[in-house]
Amino acid sequence: MKWNLKPSAQRKVAKFLKWTAASLFLVFCASTFISNDALAHENDPHSVARPQEVRVEHISLDLRVDFAEKKISGKVTLRIKNLTGANKLYLDARNLNIQAVSVGVRQVPTTFRKGHGDPGLGEGLIVDIGRHTKTVTIEYETTEGADALQWLTPEQTAGKHFPFLFSQSQPIHARTWIPLQDTPEVRTTYDARITTDPDLLVLMSAENPQVKTTDGVYRFRMRHPIPSYLIAIAVGNLEFRAFPGSLRSGVYAEPETLDSAHWEFANTEKMIKVGEGLLGPYVWERFDLIVLPPAFPYGGMENPRLTFLTPTLLAGDRSLENVIAHELGHSWSGNLVTNSNGNHFWLNEGFTVYVERRILEAVSGQKTAEIQAQIGFERLLDELRTQPADLTKLRTNLRGIHPDDAYSEIPYEKGYLFLRHIEELVGRPRFDTFLRAYLSEFSFQSISTDDFQKFLEEKLILGDAELRRRINALEWIYAPGLPEVRPEIHSEALARMQRHAEAFAKAGRFSNPTILSFASVSAYEWVHFIRSLPKDTSLDRIKSLDKSLGFSDSQNVEILTEWLKFTIGAGYPPALVRAEQFLKSVGRWKFLEPIYRQLIANRHRELAVRIFNEAKSGYHSIVNQQFERLLSTSTESCNDAMGG
Ligand code: BES
Ligand code: ZN
Repeated sequence: MKWNLKPSAQRKVAKFLKWTAASLFLVFCASTFISNDALAHENDPHSVARPQEVRVEHISLDLRVDFAEKKISGKVTLRIKNLTGANKLYLDARNLNIQAVSVGVRQVPTTFRKGHGDPGLGEGLIVDIGRHTKTVTIEYETTEGADALQWLTPEQTAGKHFPFLFSQSQPIHARTWIPLQDTPEVRTTYDARITTDPDLLVLMSAENPQVKTTDGVYRFRMRHPIPSYLIAIAVGNLEFRAFPGSLRSGVYAEPETLDSAHWEFANTEKMIKVGEGLLGPYVWERFDLIVLPPAFPYGGMENPRLTFLTPTLLAGDRSLENVIAHELGHSWSGNLVTNSNGNHFWLNEGFTVYVERRILEAVSGQKTAEIQAQIGFERLLDELRTQPADLTKLRTNLRGIHPDDAYSEIPYEKGYLFLRHIEELVGRPRFDTFLRAYLSEFSFQSISTDDFQKFLEEKLILGDAELRRRINALEWIYAPGLPEVRPEIHSEALARMQRHAEAFAKAGRFSNPTILSFASVSAYEWVHFIRSLPKDTSLDRIKSLDKSLGFSDSQNVEILTEWLKFTIGAGYPPALVRAEQFLKSVGRWKFLEPIYRQLIANRHRELAVRIFNEAKSGYHSIVNQQFERLLSTSTESCNDAMGG
């Protein structure tokens, strides 16, 4: 078809058509999703549990942690509430060895069988119960297929003398070490009795000891109802030290890292106070940290009362403490108000990134928070280029998709942007009031995107059609990509680094030599500097940069990762040796992924595979699965890892 219209009119028509299509699309999406979430009960796509019939209310663990056999064994007692008079209890279970199941205080044996869940979700466990059954006791042991558990040899720890165990239950790995209703829709309290070698300390996401017992027996209690993905355990040669001036916060670490951890995270109590001012009382009583060995696959994990951390945060300059602000933020968004299943993951992470940056702003200033926001925004743009459109929506539909495969920056950074967009429209005072009301309304509940939307309508929009139009929630939530009207993120500090990078690439030296002082430039500014170097920067210039700024030797993992990504892409020979060393020393997927991806994209696929094969015994099984996936989806020509 040929339009006999002036170009400007053509543009208008095209814009109108695009707008109409987008609106129809939104109405369609909104109507299907809203009715799904609101009318019928929305089942968790990653669980075989049927909490609408029978609900687990309390979990009692009696387990032995056996390092020689690398297994956890014992029994779990589930206290249940039978809501419909059902005669079966459906549990999630994956790769567990179930030995016996009984009911009631007298533990009368009952019959049970495996279900037929798909391999990713696990086989499940179906237990025959009576209408009046109050407790179900399951004797079991974990197997090698317990993806939640990573057993470390002494060599993989800082001290090199004692073994170590940690769990990672989120998103759906709790079922690999405890048979339970593994959906965040269900909240339970728990207690535990754990036995292990007497020279090790056991910690959980619960009331914790601060010193070892003499007999290796430990008791725990979590009095608040929490989702299963927050049940956690760590066992190792650990010591505790309180933060100065805090009665509710301290850090656990191996003695070898305790000093540096204690220094690095010293702002924790300050952050808790800021969090309370912004979000309401901290209800979990204690907020302790534990620094795990480098194999831990995440930066941080918000296990209640005991945040799990990677030792790669120990940069020596407190430059990565935003991770503490983030995990602390989850004490409100995530642990108090919880996404009801993986489709609403943005409610956990988007809110928490927003809270993280507000806490950081109060503790370290607006400049630091805006640097984070811009770095995050750029990562979001990269992610939007590579993720399938469906996964770029805030409210996802993950039926048939494992949550570990859907994991990306999108729920974090698009979620953040959406909340900041609302904040900018209504102003901070009004937004903060709304945020506090949201957290208190849904405290200790598991909610869906739809619950959020209704609350937004009732407590913030209040029938104001113009505000509703400007907030544009339907597009933010249900459409892929980013709405055109969105917050402008601009960090002057990063713009300055970009100018330095461009000037350096052109002239081969810095116009202003004071940039060479590491003291005046923060880690994320360097990250941006490296990202801003033109791809065709000559090897000579790269070499001289490395000589003057020492990026290849950086002790800061964020800087080093960015540098390795850049220099592998540029064909800088020392990058390969350094990359190999790095890939073999850390297990955090966020840093492994871009480097492996970059190796593969730059004709080093074989090298990547060799390094991986040599390193994989030290990686977490989640990481190993992600690597296989990366290998099968990335090609040499696809050079996406370089980003913008
Ligand atoms: N809860 C997440 C980690 C997570 C999410 C584990 C989904 C498994 C499945 C944690 O709060 C988190 O987001 N950690 C980030 C750090 C943060 C500063 C963005 C990480 O580990 O990189
Ligand atoms: Zn998080």
